Amino acid sequence: MAAKPKIFLTRELPPETMAILRDQSVLTMNPHDRYLDKQEIIDGVRKVDGLLCLLTDTIDDEILAAGSNLKVVANFAVGFNNIDVSAATRRKIPVTNTPGVLTDTTADMAWALLLAAARRVAEGDRFVRTRAWQGWGPLQYMGGDVTGATLGIIGLGRIGQAVVRRARGFDMKVIYWNRTRLSPEQENELGVAYAEMDEVLRRSDFVSLHVALNDETTHLIGAQQLALMKPTACIINTARGPVIDEKALVSALQEGTIGAAGLDVYEHEPELEPGLYDLENAVLAPHLGSATIGTRTKMGNMAAENCLAGCRGERPPNLVNPEIYE
Ligand code: DGY
Repeated sequence: MAAKPKIFLTRELPPETMAILRDQSVLTMNPHDRYLDKQEIIDGVRKVDGLLCLLTDTIDDEILAAGSNLKVVANFAVGFNNIDVSAATRRKIPVTNTPGVLTDTTADMAWALLLAAARRVAEGDRFVRTRAWQGWGPLQYMGGDVTGATLGIIGLGRIGQAVVRRARGFDMKVIYWNRTRLSPEQENELGVAYAEMDEVLRRSDFVSLHVALNDETTHLIGAQQLALMKPTACIINTARGPVIDEKALVSALQEGTIGAAGLDVYEHEPELEPGLYDLENAVLAPHLGSATIGTRTKMGNMAAENCLAGCRGERPPNLVNPEIYE
């Protein structure tokens, strides 16, 4: 029987995944309930075959170099902007992610934020908790209508499309911008109309961001783009924080350039742009997009499978740098 591969895991994962990893590998892992620092990851990868890491771990060339036996880097996330994929590719190390399994859960979160921001749920909750509420009032916490409003989607991949499907129940008009326009059949099936990004920003009551983070999408939404939006519009971000220039967003929310924001991700997590903490018109979640027991378990199992396959020298199922096999 072949020896079990050695895997280093940077943070504890759901129980089912832990059982798979403990059964099928010689596992070493972060013993703490906190992020590891760079040196700790370097020490962890030195003699292992596989690294199973998180979106909070910055995996750069120095870490890859320290893992001289590394046969795979498996990310516990669909996004992989935390990994220097070019460096891994140069070193012929396969990098994997967890696509598909978190699509619906993340789309649900975008909707949770959209509804909370539109209907001022978090503000209302804070008000009730202060025990200041004196009873129903005709002018209290009036928000914006969701039903019949225009939803703008920036990035119409898997998650963007799942958000669109949910909009049908709210009779929304949906317009989108995507780097590549969908076919007329796909647009028809989804009930969406394409528009240039500026047009999407101008016409939408709600704008939801669903692009991957890369050089082209960093600060895709800045002061100039926010200025195009309606003063009543609400922006939702469940993608990656740096897609929005957070300083510009805070100014736009403070000055009433836009109406509200629903954010699950931040430019410098876990730090927030200082003014953001004080804004009543921002609903702030701590990066919960994929955080259900079912989804995190599926992500964990998928990442473990990717990692184990890479350690065995097989082509892992969810490879993001297929060019290493060319
Ligand atoms: C991902 O997988 O990229 C998500 O942000 C995790 O919640």
